[in-house]
Amino acid sequence: MAENNENALAGNAPAKPKPAAPGAAKPAVPGAAKPAAPVAAKPEAPKGGVYKPPVERPDPNPYKDSRCCSFNAWFAERFQVLVPVIDYLKKKEVPKHRHSFWYYFGGLTLFFFLLQIITGLLLLQYYKPTEAEAYASFVFIQKEVSYGWLIRQVHAWSANLMVFSVFIHMFSTFFLKSYRKPRELMWLSGSVLFVLTLGFGFTGYLLPWNEIAYFATQVGTEVPKVVPGGAFFVDILRGGEQVTGETLTRMFSLHVVLLPGLLLLLLSAHLLLVQVFGTSAPIGYKESGRIKGYEKFFPTFLAKDAIGWILGFVLIIYLAVVFPGEIGLKADPLSPAPLGIKPEWYFWAQFLLLKDFSFENGEFYAIIFFTVGAIFWALVPFIDKRASREEKSPVFTIIGILYLAALLINTYRVFAEYGL
Ligand code: HEM
Repeated sequence: MAENNENALAGNAPAKPKPAAPGAAKPAVPGAAKPAAPVAAKPEAPKGGVYKPPVERPDPNPYKDSRCCSFNAWFAERFQVLVPVIDYLKKKEVPKHRHSFWYYFGGLTLFFFLLQIITGLLLLQYYKPTEAEAYASFVFIQKEVSYGWLIRQVHAWSANLMVFSVFIHMFSTFFLKSYRKPRELMWLSGSVLFVLTLGFGFTGYLLPWNEIAYFATQVGTEVPKVVPGGAFFVDILRGGEQVTGETLTRMFSLHVVLLPGLLLLLLSAHLLLVQVFGTSAPIGYKESGRIKGYEKFFPTFLAKDAIGWILGFVLIIYLAVVFPGEIGLKADPLSPAPLGIKPEWYFWAQFLLLKDFSFENGEFYAIIFFTVGAIFWALVPFIDKRASREEKSPVFTIIGILYLAALLINTYRVFAEYGL
């Protein structure tokens, strides 16, 4: 909460400087007679101008005379710029109430993302992003490289869990109305993060260059063609008219360079805003005394976050070992598409929307319908004026329930029709 952090902000002053080394000039005590000025030449008044005393600046390094050899003093002397930030984090507090549980999903999403970076870097040591070698390099990682199978499975499962957890994080912040003033930009940056996260899933899917991925990408990249100018965009994405080795190279560069770069940038802004504004409490909770107290972000909240991360990690290892994903058959662009081609589970709702709009120009209207819904969702903080006035906004709660229900029902319908 912004108000939680006021004290933290007030406590930003850097730690007291250590006493100066013997022999150094002592600072003047207020009220005490000033010692005779050393024989220093007074700055001359500029000719024709008014004399201005030299501007007094704070000591640029208050730690320079530190005699202490503890790690803290060593750190403070070298990273002075971080000292106020650390002081601030130590004072930051998180409100405790019956919905506090949902606060852990942002951190969990972050954890899965970090795991993606680490395992992704390891996979990069052996993966070859060309039509001729991609599939073989995946087989090599899976079968020959020590623990390669584990790294690959962890990467795949962690990707799924990251998407799952970002869905929970987004809907929970929606229902808690955490997007309300002054957190609009947290929500907006989060919306872009959400799109980037799905982009990771989409671009990563083709990389093993197997049959299912090939045809799913063929179908998925076909979709924008129904809107004006969409064919041009598809050509750029595919690097030609069809999905080929060119497409693989493009997906690869998006997956390992552009998307991580953008995500890191947006994530930094998102987390910075979280620190500046603090954690919100649901509307009316403070006034009605439903806040059970506050806990320190560091170390209490962070320690609980860490427990969530450990549980998440254990779950991933379990899934990787017990339910390893298949590599499938190598993609053959000349073979007919297998039956029942469908995208990854997090695109099922949109996939079904396209199928449901099966009338003439239906796909075009499905895309318009979906885009308008997505834009409305991203702009909710600016539309929900009641929440911004700290008043309950049940209409938006109902809208959130409708979005969630549509998502779950459509996803289930695909599962019922096609299986996993
Ligand atoms: C890569 C994806 C994301 C990561 C790693 C991430 C991370 C975080 C973290 C660590 C927090 C602070 C703890 C918490 O309240 O959970 C947070 C807060 C928040 N996030 Fe995200 N987030 C992501 C995506 C999103 C999305 C998709 C949205 C919504 C569209 C969103 C909206 C918010 C909001 C509104 C808050 C403030 C919560 C409050 O003040 O109570 N974030 N995020």
